[in-house]
Amino acid sequence: MKEILQQIKEEVVKGFAACGFDEKYAMVTLSNRPDLCQFQCNGAMAAAKEYKKAPIAIANEVVEKLAENAMFSKCEACPPGFINMNLSDEFIAGFVSGMAADTERFGVEKVATPKKVMIDYGGPNVAKPLHVGHLRSAIIGESIKRTARFMGDEVIGDVHLGDWGLQMGLIITELKLRKPELVYFDENYDGEYPTEPPFTISELEEIYPCASGKSKEDEAYKEAALRATYELQHGRKGYQALLSHILNVSVTDLKRNYEKLDVTFDLWKGESDAQPYIPDMVQKMKDDGFAYISEGALVVDVKEETDTKEVPPCMILKSDGASLYNTTDLATMVWRMKDYNPDSIIYVVDKRQELYFTQVFRCAKKTGIVPADKNLYFVGFGTMNGKDGKPFKTRQGGVMRLEYLLKEVEDKMLEKIKENGTMSDEDAIKTAQIVGLSAVKYGDLSNQASKDYIFDIDRFTSAEGNTGPYILYTIVRCKSILAKAGVESIDGAILPAHSDSERGLQLELTKFMAALTSAYEDMAPHKICAYIYDLANAFNRFYHDTKILAEEDEATKASYLKLLMLTRSVLEKSIDLLGFKAPERM
Ligand code: ARG
Repeated sequence: MKEILQQIKEEVVKGFAACGFDEKYAMVTLSNRPDLCQFQCNGAMAAAKEYKKAPIAIANEVVEKLAENAMFSKCEACPPGFINMNLSDEFIAGFVSGMAADTERFGVEKVATPKKVMIDYGGPNVAKPLHVGHLRSAIIGESIKRTARFMGDEVIGDVHLGDWGLQMGLIITELKLRKPELVYFDENYDGEYPTEPPFTISELEEIYPCASGKSKEDEAYKEAALRATYELQHGRKGYQALLSHILNVSVTDLKRNYEKLDVTFDLWKGESDAQPYIPDMVQKMKDDGFAYISEGALVVDVKEETDTKEVPPCMILKSDGASLYNTTDLATMVWRMKDYNPDSIIYVVDKRQELYFTQVFRCAKKTGIVPADKNLYFVGFGTMNGKDGKPFKTRQGGVMRLEYLLKEVEDKMLEKIKENGTMSDEDAIKTAQIVGLSAVKYGDLSNQASKDYIFDIDRFTSAEGNTGPYILYTIVRCKSILAKAGVESIDGAILPAHSDSERGLQLELTKFMAALTSAYEDMAPHKICAYIYDLANAFNRFYHDTKILAEEDEATKASYLKLLMLTRSVLEKSIDLLGFKAPERM
């Protein structure tokens, strides 16, 4: 279906044209005075200059042409030259009936030219537990992925594991110290390595911080870790077998955690997958004259004349010839282009890495790794802070592990459910998980990604206000009325509104397409949140002043129920795009 603003605009364009005014002045927006009208056009003010007429005169002429149009119940000129419009109730009802008839997409059309998009999100580091810093990337990336997919793009999500570098050498060094007898350390061993990993995930997670701590105090230890990293990266077989164990154990654990978050990846590639592409990439950068030696390191200049801040050269190799985070990200682009050739790549990463990505993107474009017609986007997100305004910590002051954070929210939800509860323990636990996830995800996504926000467990889990649980309550309310009515589907159209609150709800539903389109185009899930909050409010207003099930007129009642179904479906589709679900009861 054509977006409602577009449909209105087409009529207003006709009005302007009929009066001999350029259609560029016929822009229509949502009213910024909803108490006066639903939509407005401010074009008469802009046209005044060109036509040397008073704006109000222009507005009056146009309004006269639009007066008979059945689309509007009101169309009037207001000083100094606004055109204020209300849609007729018949038109609004027709529009929402059209949405309801489209039971999969509710009138939202796919984009005309779908793109192939890769999303780089999650970005966990192997052997280190997921922490809340990784939470935002996973939540935001998942929503961007689902939204783009719904709009028709072909989307490939890649977790881009941090599985290369010193952390591996550290783990190997510590393991060697603890269990020197393991065959992985015997250089003369040439048999098969055991398939059973020599550690569990808990051991692994304890080994890394321990090793990392030691390396900061003990030079020789650090040397050993660097050496092990070097040997691993240069083909030492025992170490590579250990690396596979580390990866397997870690990835199994990561998948379990992402499953809890309802986040899934199409690709589980990591930094290590990029390594084979580095030598040729570097050689080509040198041959093409882009890379040069500066203070021993190999760099590519990426500054541009219009820069207002300094953008330092992109470092490709360190002076000892070792590769860096940059090198890996560039080589990752090499295989992404070769194997998938996407139209764009979206990186959902902490905004503190923005300058870094500016350098890497420019370098990729300049050296031709990524062709000029492709798009590279950086979606940088802010920090999740505690109530003290500092990055979120545990009560003990450590980094809060994702699992514990989720558990804390679930427990809180469970407490609330039990307080007002009639549910069995088993149902209560399941419901607490579903609602808890909505609290965490909505609490995050309802903020513009680039902003920092405060993780406030009491606010996020509250059923009142702009929260996930509030949205879920609204959906559950729709479901329970429909269940009481005992109807699965209803034929016929939604009738013109019977009250102000019903008109408000219908009008809010008409804005679904615009909200989704702009969330998609701007890669901004918070726009979906803002929309469903308004929709939930409009629904609850309607619910509070309408006797739905007790309505005596059968046609009116059927229309109410149909409106309820559409509201439920639009809310459910929206939360699915945000990455969570609604329970049956709450
Ligand atoms: N592993 C990185 C970190 O924990 C994030 C990776 C982001 N993606 C990328 N292509 N660099 O900071």
